Amino acid sequence: MRLGGPRRRRASVASVLLIGCAICAGIGIFTLAVRSLDPSPEIAEAVHPDLLLKDASSQSSGGEEVDSGGGERRKSCATVEEMGEVFRDGFFTESLRVRELIRAHFDLNGAARVRGLPPEQFCKRGFVLGKASEAGFGNEMYKVLTGAALSVMLNRSLIIGQTRGKFPFGDYISYSDVAFTLKEVKHLWRHNGCRKKYGRQLVMRIDDFVKPLKTDVLCSNWKEWKQPIVWLQNTTDAVAAQFFLKNKHSDMRNAASTLFGHPESLHLRPNVYGELMRILISPSQEVDDAVNWVLRNSEDPDISLHMRMMNNRSPRAAQAAINCIRKATSNLQLSKPRVVIVSDTPTFVKGIISKTSEFAEILHFDHKVFRGNISLSADKLHSLEFRSKDWGPAPRWVAFVDFFLASRAKHVVVSGAHRRVGTTYAQLIAALAAANNMGDGSGGLNFSFLSSFQSNLLAGGLGNQIGWGHVWNRFAGPLSCRGQPNQCALTPFLPPAWWDGLWQSPIPRDVKRLAMYGIKLSGFGTIDEDHLLSFCNSKKKTVRTVPIISD
Ligand SMILES: *[C@@H]1O[C@H](CO)[C@@H](O)[C@H](O)[C@H]1NC(C)=O
Ligand SMILES: *[C@@H]1O[C@H](CO)[C@@H](O)[C@H](O)[C@H]1NC(C)=O
Ligand SMILES: *[C@@H]1O[C@H](CO)[C@@H](O)[C@H](O)[C@H]1NC(C)=O
Ligand SMILES: *[C@@H]1O[C@H](CO)[C@@H](O)[C@H](O)[C@H]1NC(C)=O
Repeated sequence: MRLGGPRRRRASVASVLLIGCAICAGIGIFTLAVRSLDPSPEIAEAVHPDLLLKDASSQSSGGEEVDSGGGERRKSCATVEEMGEVFRDGFFTESLRVRELIRAHFDLNGAARVRGLPPEQFCKRGFVLGKASEAGFGNEMYKVLTGAALSVMLNRSLIIGQTRGKFPFGDYISYSDVAFTLKEVKHLWRHNGCRKKYGRQLVMRIDDFVKPLKTDVLCSNWKEWKQPIVWLQNTTDAVAAQFFLKNKHSDMRNAASTLFGHPESLHLRPNVYGELMRILISPSQEVDDAVNWVLRNSEDPDISLHMRMMNNRSPRAAQAAINCIRKATSNLQLSKPRVVIVSDTPTFVKGIISKTSEFAEILHFDHKVFRGNISLSADKLHSLEFRSKDWGPAPRWVAFVDFFLASRAKHVVVSGAHRRVGTTYAQLIAALAAANNMGDGSGGLNFSFLSSFQSNLLAGGLGNQIGWGHVWNRFAGPLSCRGQPNQCALTPFLPPAWWDGLWQSPIPRDVKRLAMYGIKLSGFGTIDEDHLLSFCNSKKKTVRTVPIISD
């Protein structure tokens, strides 16, 4: 059996050949051919047109081109900008397709229709729970969104978990009515006599994603699960739901690639999480008022910059971000763009305002000025340890105003940091902004997510991007060039979970982590399918369920 669609082209690809293309008519067009470091002979067919690098000058900062004899020069690594080129087009039509898929899913499985079904139909229904606590917003929101994604894959209805009657971040976020609450499902289960008349107990099957030896995310066919409710726990990023792309059963792989695209087709990444957020959440009235106050009820910003500095004053990070904004501005041909700045570090915001005011109109949410006349200041979340670590000294609710403010960007979201770029919070801002800007019409979309890296962060290539859920992690291995200059790189709206793309390669830490899940990764990120099958066969089969109604 094969995992992951067509025979993997890159199965043996280790690196890329750059052949100065004298016979091509165009100037500066390079052909990428693929070279094999592995002994396997699968080679030349691996060239995908989208991988043709169009701009010869962008090569200069790339990997060394080594003369390998016969006049061919091979490139052994890529810069972040070169890696990002594959994301230039391709997400728009895929995202429209997924928008339609999600819409159809909630038409069929949304609470509005399902709650009205006659008992014999209602009692046959399946549900997926998406539940979050109120820790770091990005990670917790991904738990809810993973539940939603899984509900689409499994053709089940979505339940959004509440804690003591409150939705996650319910003071700041409103949820649409496509989802159920557990309370309502319990009520309807009793009301329809699902147990008494149809013998169906309301039980929930729980699978814990962070327990590699227990989770069935790779080994079981979830479509055959009979339990009325399913909960995949601890899914704090875009990666967990994409594990199903490598599930042992073709049913699950197909369901996953229908939603996420094939992992080897990096040029076709639908904005799944942005589309899910678009249908599920909106800012609460108070948060929305604060957003509009910053925008002075005027036009939406052109660009948003998110910088996670963790109190670090890195002038290089700031300068790289400013250059990235300048680049985006000149590409968009805007004379004086409106730029929203969002950061956990107030001094960073001050610094950047003074350095950019001549070419941009800077907008920033100053909660101290705003606090004077509104009720949000009655912050209902108490001071928690993670808050200052994750969100600096501002009160918690400011993160929500900033989130929805930044997601109003019309053209570009830039993510920068003093260390790790493309955190879950930044990913979700970009995803929601892109979804907000994609009309239902057929017009193209000019929306970009850019990652800003200062050169010192890339001294050892992307090797610092070790955060498992961070967007550049899957590119952090040996194929990323050392000693790169500042980068302002196109970034996928859907962070990749696997390493099947041309320039993707894992870091040793992830090779180890995947090994615990039964995945044997090669140094270039290809997986050993037989190894997974034997892992699944020898895995202890356990089913963990809890009763939801115990009467
Ligand atoms: C999803 O479930 C509905 C009934 O609830 C069924 O009619 C439909 O065919 C299912 N779709 C898929 C793709 O399984
Ligand atoms: C996994 O999720 C459960 C339920 O939310 C939680 O109690 C547990 O602490 C989580 N485990 C980890 C390692 O985060
Ligand atoms: C999109 O933006 C690029 C520059 O970033 C510009 O060259 C191109 O014409 C724009 N396309 C559309 C359809 O607006
Ligand atoms: C808060 O008060 C200031 C000054 O009176 C005013 O300009 C601002 O619009 C008020 N904000 C809101 C949200 O009402």
